[in-house]
Amino acid sequence: MIPPRKSVPPHIVIAVDGPAAAGKGTLSRRLAQHYRLRHLDTGLTYRATAHALGERGLPLDDEDVAARIAGDLDLSDLDRSVLSAHEIGEAASKVAVMPKVRKALVEAQRGFAAMPPGAVLDGRDIGTVVCPDALVKFYVTASPQTRARRRHDEIVGNGGHADLAAILADIERRDARDTGRTDSPLRPASDAHLLDTTEMGIEAAFEAARNLVDTALEH
Ligand code: DC
Repeated sequence: MIPPRKSVPPHIVIAVDGPAAAGKGTLSRRLAQHYRLRHLDTGLTYRATAHALGERGLPLDDEDVAARIAGDLDLSDLDRSVLSAHEIGEAASKVAVMPKVRKALVEAQRGFAAMPPGAVLDGRDIGTVVCPDALVKFYVTASPQTRARRRHDEIVGNGGHADLAAILADIERRDARDTGRTDSPLRPASDAHLLDTTEMGIEAAFEAARNLVDTALEH
């Protein structure tokens, strides 16, 4: 008798890209939870590289040194509460323009995506470079004003002080850096679904994303 075939859950990779504070982190976490996948915020890998350089008193502008540190990162040990500091984000955007650093981190990110049962990765170049064969790709965006307002409210909600105009200027500067760099600039993959959270909000974006993933899983 032929034994019944065990149903093997498919290996799913979901790519989520977009500019800072567009809601891609929240969306990615919700998707990972819903589909029981692992989640990697790839921005943390650039932040951890910059942080490790600073901790060891190493320069931020030596590409070979930064690439060696990037190659030694342990992705299971990324502490968001430490790495989310504003100065670390600034330092991360400097190492993120170095091709050798990107090569080392992309390799580690692909290793993460390849582990069963699959993963949701969010960043700037997931659909275009890291996982071009992802089952579904999203490009999450929102107007700079909406993103600045969200970040402002988040800081104030946590008891901090925030200057809306300064946050907006910072977001616009980061957008220019992320979209303007030569290696892997921020842009939607040609087959990415665009989710603009300016009007729809993040909850509605999650519902739309879930429908698109379910449809892709049926085919
Ligand atoms: O999303 P974030 O602020 O944590 O990202 C930190 C920096 O890393 C930011 O300058 C963009 C860059 N980054 C990148 O170049 N590629 C990614 N896949 C993720 C982040």
